[in-house]
Amino acid sequence: MGWSGCSTHGALYNPRVPATRAGIPPSLYPGALVLPVSDTDNSSTAAILGLIADDMVQVDRVISERLDTGVPLVSEVSRYIISAGGKRLRPALLLLMSGALGYTGAQRFNIAAVVEFIHTASLLHDDVVDESTLRRGRPTANESFGNPASVLVGDFLHSRAFQMMVDCNDMRVMQILADATNVIAEGEVLQLMNMHDASLNEEAYLRVIRSKTAKLFEASTRVAAVLAKAPPEIEEACGIYGQALGTAFQVIDDVLDYAGDASETGKNLGDDLREGKTTLPLILAMQRADAEAGALIRKAIEAGDTTQLERIVDIVRATGALDATRAAAAAEAQRAIDALIDLPRNSYTQGLLQLAAQLLERRA
Ligand code: IPE
Ligand code: IPE
Ligand code: MG
Ligand code: MG
Repeated sequence: MGWSGCSTHGALYNPRVPATRAGIPPSLYPGALVLPVSDTDNSSTAAILGLIADDMVQVDRVISERLDTGVPLVSEVSRYIISAGGKRLRPALLLLMSGALGYTGAQRFNIAAVVEFIHTASLLHDDVVDESTLRRGRPTANESFGNPASVLVGDFLHSRAFQMMVDCNDMRVMQILADATNVIAEGEVLQLMNMHDASLNEEAYLRVIRSKTAKLFEASTRVAAVLAKAPPEIEEACGIYGQALGTAFQVIDDVLDYAGDASETGKNLGDDLREGKTTLPLILAMQRADAEAGALIRKAIEAGDTTQLERIVDIVRATGALDATRAAAAAEAQRAIDALIDLPRNSYTQGLLQLAAQLLERRA
């Protein structure tokens, strides 16, 4: 399980599997990101994550131990989704940030596992709400075990995460993680309210993704600073890095829903449209398209109709909306990079900077 058992779609952040290059022409990118590191440094994602490979073994050990329960169905469902791999990105960020700030306490393994549990619980619930059938390259838990089991095991993982964070006995850590869990739930409900609303603008979109995705990234990097007893301004910088990175991550996820490859993402393409999600590629395409093409997209969102998906992908590409969406992700990635200006210069910080740049090319 964990790093060693990652399926190929989780390979991007798996140090044991060489990261795949995007294969997307550089000309599609809005401009090179400005990294405060030497141009000659082109460490691969695998090398960056090699820095925390031993730590991640410890995190996977904690995850495995803390999945222990006397209820067989809880065990079965939680191990089903966790052993499917996943990139372990949020724990990786927490560990890299701990390394950057020189924190070597064992609580980092516990809290990294907590963050992965909160993430996994939100995925179990999200796939029920989104009626998704594919995740991490295999049928979703709701597809394999049904909605009730997915919802209840999601609750188990949330509450197990709370038990574990209490073990940490640090009020600030508990506060950050409890707030993040709450904000994710708000984001998912906000998104539910926005379903099939084609008039959503960038601001409303940003509010949803900041909540449902970026908040847990922010919490992961911020708690590392708290564990490291970093001064407030460094904690704030770590939080900004996580928030900006998480925002870029979700924007790219929304690009991949139109321009990705299911064999790499491990998820079905076109799911967002089927769910009536007005994500940034569609918002920008509707702004740029002629009246007829704009109406086609609007109707598809309102009906959750994917029969015109190919035509919609063509419009999203032809209007430049896909490039503009990538540009928005690049701006957030740059904000993440800039936030780390005052962090100690070491290989972990360098790794965090490189991750922000490489995230734009992710395909999984
Ligand atoms: C999926 O997150 C949910 C989003 C925020 C898009 P990840 O892409 O990190 O999921 P796993 O854990 O690697 O499967
Ligand atoms: C991310 O939203 C889910 C959470 C962060 C809870 P999505 O619905 O876009 O994620 P995927 O595409 O199902 O992974
Ligand atoms: Mg979903
Ligand atoms: Mg998605």
